[in-house]
Amino acid sequence: PVAQPASATGEHPPGAALVGTKYVKVPKNDPSQAKEANDAPKFPIAPRMTADKGRVPHVASTQQYLEMWQRSVDKPAEFFAEQARELLSWMTPFSVAHHGDLHHGDASWFLDGTLNASYICVDRHAFATPDKVAIIYEADHPDRPHVEITYRELLRQVCQLAGALHAQGLRKGDAVGIYLPNTAHAVVAMLACARLGLVHSVIFAGFSAEALRDRLRDCQCKVLITADQGMRAGKEINIKSIADEALREAPMVQKVIVHKRTGNPNVKMDPTRDIYWDEAVKSHRPYCPPVPMAAEDPLFMLYTSGSTGKPKGLMHTTAGYLLGAALSTKYVFDVHEGDKFACVADVGWITGHSYIVYGPLALGTTTLVFEGVPTWPEPDMYWRLIQKHKLTQFYTSPTALRALRKFGDEPVKKYDLTSVRVLGSVGEPIDPNTWMWLHDVVGKGEAAIVDTYWQTETGAHVLTPLPGAIETKPGSATVPFFGVRPAILDPQTGEELEGNDVSGVLAFKQAWPSMARTVFGDHDRYLETYVRPYPGYYFTGDGCTRDHDGYLWIKGRVDDVINNAGHRLSVAEIESALTAHETCAEAAVVGAPDEIAGQCVIAFVTLKHTHIPTSEIPALLTYAVRRSIGPIATPKRIIIVPDLPKTRSGKVMRRILRKIVANETDSLGDLSTLSDPSVVQTIIDLHNNKQ
Ligand code: WT7
Repeated sequence: PVAQPASATGEHPPGAALVGTKYVKVPKNDPSQAKEANDAPKFPIAPRMTADKGRVPHVASTQQYLEMWQRSVDKPAEFFAEQARELLSWMTPFSVAHHGDLHHGDASWFLDGTLNASYICVDRHAFATPDKVAIIYEADHPDRPHVEITYRELLRQVCQLAGALHAQGLRKGDAVGIYLPNTAHAVVAMLACARLGLVHSVIFAGFSAEALRDRLRDCQCKVLITADQGMRAGKEINIKSIADEALREAPMVQKVIVHKRTGNPNVKMDPTRDIYWDEAVKSHRPYCPPVPMAAEDPLFMLYTSGSTGKPKGLMHTTAGYLLGAALSTKYVFDVHEGDKFACVADVGWITGHSYIVYGPLALGTTTLVFEGVPTWPEPDMYWRLIQKHKLTQFYTSPTALRALRKFGDEPVKKYDLTSVRVLGSVGEPIDPNTWMWLHDVVGKGEAAIVDTYWQTETGAHVLTPLPGAIETKPGSATVPFFGVRPAILDPQTGEELEGNDVSGVLAFKQAWPSMARTVFGDHDRYLETYVRPYPGYYFTGDGCTRDHDGYLWIKGRVDDVINNAGHRLSVAEIESALTAHETCAEAAVVGAPDEIAGQCVIAFVTLKHTHIPTSEIPALLTYAVRRSIGPIATPKRIIIVPDLPKTRSGKVMRRILRKIVANETDSLGDLSTLSDPSVVQTIIDLHNNKQ
């Protein structure tokens, strides 16, 4: 049962449940949802998975998957203990593999073992295969030659920076902020922190000064590692000046290490606080011993947005997280010796943490770091990279694919992409048409497609096909990964919907090693968000259908989270940025369907009596959002309305606004509970009047 019945307050429409204070419409157990899924075609195991007779997929049949998965959920301690011994290296072996559960929010793994993530990702490969390339760094501009860093060299760079951090007085458990463009330096910075047991907190370089400031303050960062500038599609981004602004109100940051990315002479340095990276590391030895960490010691925290205004610093542990990253990289991408792996996300997101840095490097693979964008200078950057480096796995997002597909097939066909065995998609639901394009045009029907569903909180994939074992359906994330026991719940009763052809909310029935352990500084919020809504389950916040084959289809967020181009945005955060502006009285933000980005942000605002609507106000409010959160949260439209649709008790009915922006005004539902139903038509007219 849920903590409170869904309609307890009378303000929630049928089919909506309560989580915290906010909740939106969740899919009912609607057979038509399953029908859509049931009509989907099924694709057999991709030819390239079995083309090379000398290379057998790690999981080579559905039967083998089923056996492994069953064991992973029936005997998780045993299964994961084996995997943890095989994939990680232990300084002190563990004897207790698993303790705790979802009910109490205390799930822990390999508790009495010690290890070091930097040792696992760097040293052991630097000793075994020193000349192997660890990182290929491709800068924003294709004319700039790429950089290859061997494992031997990576160890030196990581150690020198660790030495510099140690010299700043940083010790195990201290937090370090990383605000860097997507470069090899960002990877080195993360691993240097891990070496000393410093908890890194990477803040995506697209976040604004205010967002950076709030995150640095929340985690009490003592040092910030940043860059003079970033480069994006040929344009300079003044990262250091954004950091300077953030630091004015984050005095706990005493030292700033600055990577000279562009060397622009106009970048200001504060001689008492700032030091260039090269300067900081040069007096340090290129070897420094890794600090033994308990398995459950934090490896990093990463902020993500939820239903409420304040972003959560999700905390991941050293052993469980690293195991999840390594295990999923190995099995989901079927990584073998000699592979060159590319995840073209940014290290500022969990995707970059797990699949640029920790997963591939833990396995000793070559990982590519791409600083640029797919469409600049030409919409062929990805294909160019695949051909140039003979990449074997390529992991990207539906938004990027939709944007590229608009340029037609020609830019893809110019390149030889036959090296790729596995093409991955992540971040948002992939529509079947885009999936088919990826399959037919990019993969030539020969490469495997893995639609991987997971979250910042899950640390690693939780629903995904294994490319040598699971037949795929365009648009479905298919089946659970090892250790994951999914359940579809009735959103209102919390009752588990057994069997196939059911729809509801997605939850997980037992703990798995790579799940986030807590929200930094607020364990109660962790419990409140993830385990209390449906006691005994981890609640994902996503709607989900199980089709007649038992395949799982993610239907998108059911809470007040907007997924714009794979970026997770909080309705509450955007609304508070708007209402903080002097002109704005009230704001209601909703996600609207968007051809490229999946969803875009539309804001409805009312103005204070002291202001009249002018054409400048939307621009001012847009700027306010960009300042408060960053360009990623920019609303596509801001519509000034005389009033918002509210219940008699004053609660804003975003459900109605969601229908309006989706052009579904013929199914607005019951408006009789509104205090002023006539406002709806006015809003519809203002919305449709797109000048
Ligand atoms: C939310 C998590 C960890 C991946 C990057 C985003 C959505 C993610 C898929 C997918 C459908 C997906 C969900 C999820 N999502 N992958 N393959 N199919 N939806 O991480 O920022 O923590 O967002 O992204 O809604 O809850 P995130």
